[in-house]
Amino acid sequence: MKKIFITTPIYYPNDKLHIGHAYTTILADIYKRYKKMQGYEVFFLTGSDEHGQKITEKARQEKQNEKEYVDKIIENFKLLWAKLNINYDYFIRTTDKYHEQFVQETFQELLTKSYIYKGKYKGLYCKYDETFFTEKQALVGNICPECKRKLVSLEEESYFLKVTLFKNWIKEKLQKTDLLTPNHLKKELINNFLDKSFSDLSITRKSIRWGISLLNDKNYVIYVWFDALLNYLSVFKNKESKYKVTDIWKKDSNWEILQIIGKEITRFHALYWPIILKMKNYRTPKIFAHGWIVTDQGEKMSKSKNNAIDPLFLIDKYGSDAIRFYLVKNIALGEDGRFSENLLIKTINGILVNKYSNLIARTDKMLNKYFAGFIPQEIIYSDYEINLSKEINNFKNNYYKFMDQFKLNQAIDEIIKYIETLNKYIENKEPWKEKDQKYLKVILNFLTKNIFDLSYLFSPFIPNSFQIINEWLNQGDFTKKINKINFLFTKI
Ligand code: MSP
Repeated sequence: MKKIFITTPIYYPNDKLHIGHAYTTILADIYKRYKKMQGYEVFFLTGSDEHGQKITEKARQEKQNEKEYVDKIIENFKLLWAKLNINYDYFIRTTDKYHEQFVQETFQELLTKSYIYKGKYKGLYCKYDETFFTEKQALVGNICPECKRKLVSLEEESYFLKVTLFKNWIKEKLQKTDLLTPNHLKKELINNFLDKSFSDLSITRKSIRWGISLLNDKNYVIYVWFDALLNYLSVFKNKESKYKVTDIWKKDSNWEILQIIGKEITRFHALYWPIILKMKNYRTPKIFAHGWIVTDQGEKMSKSKNNAIDPLFLIDKYGSDAIRFYLVKNIALGEDGRFSENLLIKTINGILVNKYSNLIARTDKMLNKYFAGFIPQEIIYSDYEINLSKEINNFKNNYYKFMDQFKLNQAIDEIIKYIETLNKYIENKEPWKEKDQKYLKVILNFLTKNIFDLSYLFSPFIPNSFQIINEWLNQGDFTKKINKINFLFTKI
């Protein structure tokens, strides 16, 4: 059996999640559902990245200790994933004991292997991103290139990860393999970072208390990114895990690994992370980095900019299928894409209502009117339906091809073509004028069968709707009378 391990980043519980975080997680969930359809064994991991200064600050504001604070926020994460129909297999928290222990052990292991050494850090530091920057990387006026806040000068003893040892190795990996998609991010990473300012990574902090402390030196806690990245390995150390770390990560494992991230964390995932894996003698994953959701004005949506849209509000208003669909349809994978409620409404009305629901509603009406709710059986398709089926087969093949390549936008476009083709079929055939009972049976059989097939292909994107279709059509048992259909999407 084929197997795939799919991950999202683990999100910071320093605030509520917004539609950008939902986007990443939805992409992962769609892929899980698709791979399940293909008969894969899937392990889908998400979780929360709970250490670091930002969490301490937030907890203080709320007059709670860190653990109390994150426990509460995590409940909101899980609620959001449930409402969005996210079918993850495990939710990892970096405050889980097995994770903390694994991080400490890995630190010791890499120290013993001399991949970690003690040195002195002197330079610029962003307190908010908990990241060091060189003067070259800083923007004019010592501004953080990531969050645009003021950087502070800092000098402290620190442990470093000897990533520079693998500079050539990682460059070649990036250039010659499919470690990272899309290509433009690869180039950017190599030209603007790897070739310019790649240096060993400081992986401890002295000033921070809320983190995993070193076993050998209690004055330090481990840097959040080193802690966080290891979640993709440590998860298999949890007591309930069916798998061992090596099952998935050893060199000759037959698992596929797909890690979905947003582009701003490409550096950590496509440079440092593969190097850590290399140091442990493990294999490297496939990483897919998507673009940002930006506002109508083209600004990145983020909590710190106060322009973030709460997905819970949208789900309650429009339903989770509509949100899932919008995000994949309207955002070209790998590119930035706009989100606004107006565009969402336009998409719902234009495609989900006018095209998809309309097709189903018309077919439902005709089945009830002409055949008392029974799907006509034992029919012979005419050349027209046979030829149309060939065209439809093209859509299906393209859909599978695009899905396999993680080109979800293009896959959705094939589905839309499929829907449009069926609507056109109704318009051309005008079944309400059809005098030949036998041919009327053909039309309704053809339509119902194709609606079912189409909805199946559509199901990873809009799983709730597929459930409705399934109930309507008795899970595809066409010998039974159809059931009353609930609403799919209604005009807003
Ligand atoms: N905790 C780290 C990740 C550690 S993974 C080992 C982190 N967390 S985060 O809460 O800031 O979430 C970052 C992720 O959220 C991004 O990689 C991206 O997947 C998603 N997004 C956050 N804002 C986004 C947009 N405006 N648009 C699209 N996705 C964005 O970084």
